[in-house]
Amino acid sequence: MRGKVFLPGDKSIAHRAIILSALAKAKTNLKNIPLNTDCLATIAVFRKLGVKIKLNKASCRATVSGRGLFGLNAPKGALYIKDSGTTFRLLLGVLAGQDFKARLMAGPSLSRRPMLRAIKPLRLMGAAIKARAIKKEEYPPVMIHGGNLNAINYKIPVPSAQVKSAILLAGLYAKGKTKIIEPLKTRDHTERMLKLFKANLKTQGKSITVSGAKKLISPGALYIPGDISSAAFFMVAASIIPGAKILIKNVSLNPGRVGIIKALKRMGAALKIENSKLKTQGNEPMGDILVKSSCLRGIKIGRKEVPSLIDELPILMVAACFAKGKSIFAGVGELRVKETDRIKSMLVNLAKMGAKIRVVKSGGQENIIIQGAKVLYSARVSSFGDHRTAMSMVIAGLAARGKTRIDDISCINKSFPGFLTTLKSLNIYK
Ligand code: S3P
Repeated sequence: MRGKVFLPGDKSIAHRAIILSALAKAKTNLKNIPLNTDCLATIAVFRKLGVKIKLNKASCRATVSGRGLFGLNAPKGALYIKDSGTTFRLLLGVLAGQDFKARLMAGPSLSRRPMLRAIKPLRLMGAAIKARAIKKEEYPPVMIHGGNLNAINYKIPVPSAQVKSAILLAGLYAKGKTKIIEPLKTRDHTERMLKLFKANLKTQGKSITVSGAKKLISPGALYIPGDISSAAFFMVAASIIPGAKILIKNVSLNPGRVGIIKALKRMGAALKIENSKLKTQGNEPMGDILVKSSCLRGIKIGRKEVPSLIDELPILMVAACFAKGKSIFAGVGELRVKETDRIKSMLVNLAKMGAKIRVVKSGGQENIIIQGAKVLYSARVSSFGDHRTAMSMVIAGLAARGKTRIDDISCINKSFPGFLTTLKSLNIYK
């Protein structure tokens, strides 16, 4: 497994780039836009709100003709968000600021994911929001009528960049200064991009303050670096497949996302960052990652580290199966409310392949324990409809003995449509 890969643009950054470009009254050229179904859902929704977006799929470029903070149109009919959680929660923040009614519908997996965490602070700011309530939680579809918002001081109970971003976006429309305190620091793409678009935003430790704004100013163009969450599959593959050497170009190295690099290094991975740039055109750090095959050892991931590698936990579990000794992943309960219950999907799949993996509850926290055995055996496994479970199992299958069958893999398109083609380009089947 040898070669060089260029990855599609970072999904989290791309959502924010499309949204803020739509809210600035100018043209913004976006380069390296990923063509996954989540980002296409964001594009479709803003088109429905009256924003002209020209997408050139061949060159992965988009030109967004923004309408300004107050220029969105009331949508005709419901807004269909598909299964993109980031689109849904961030859009709630934008719509909280609009003096019109909108109805947000979601696909089957997103309809099962909790929305109250984003709805609650937006209600406190003054938005009228109705959602499907079951017991103490609220789910899509959501009806929202925004406008006339007040600033709030809000302590977020569960670490979530999506919730933080929804409040920051609503904060642009509020009278006064909105202050957020995070329990643990999460990815700060929204903060970086708001600064790039000249919003009045200040961060101090775990607190962020944003002032109500009259307008955003577009930087004109911005480049979206490669997605570190997609890179993670290649980092682990190169680490556990004997003789491998892969160079992954132009990867986003946001401090809130590099947990996977730190974890793999602690496991003994032969991983080096090259050509690192502190800031790109999009106000994000970026670099190349060179990974070579190595002997991994078990690791303890602490609860506080989880937000920095939340999406990479499934593939890290695969790495732990091929490591020497025990690995502990502490406080990973949030995995239960991703596209699928990722604790269950990974536990069922990896156990089928012979992994010694279990979940232990202690002090209201869920921990995963894996006893590495440096080997997995082929099996028939499933994606459970979740893109990151699917890609993790493809890598597990490559490193395992025998032929592994992974069912229901079309979900990979949610974040990385070219995953299998890129993997094959590394001559793995030759
Ligand atoms: C994201 C935040 C995380 C992450 C998701 C993308 C974002 O979700 O799991 O894939 O772009 O802000 P939470 O905010 O729910 O932790």
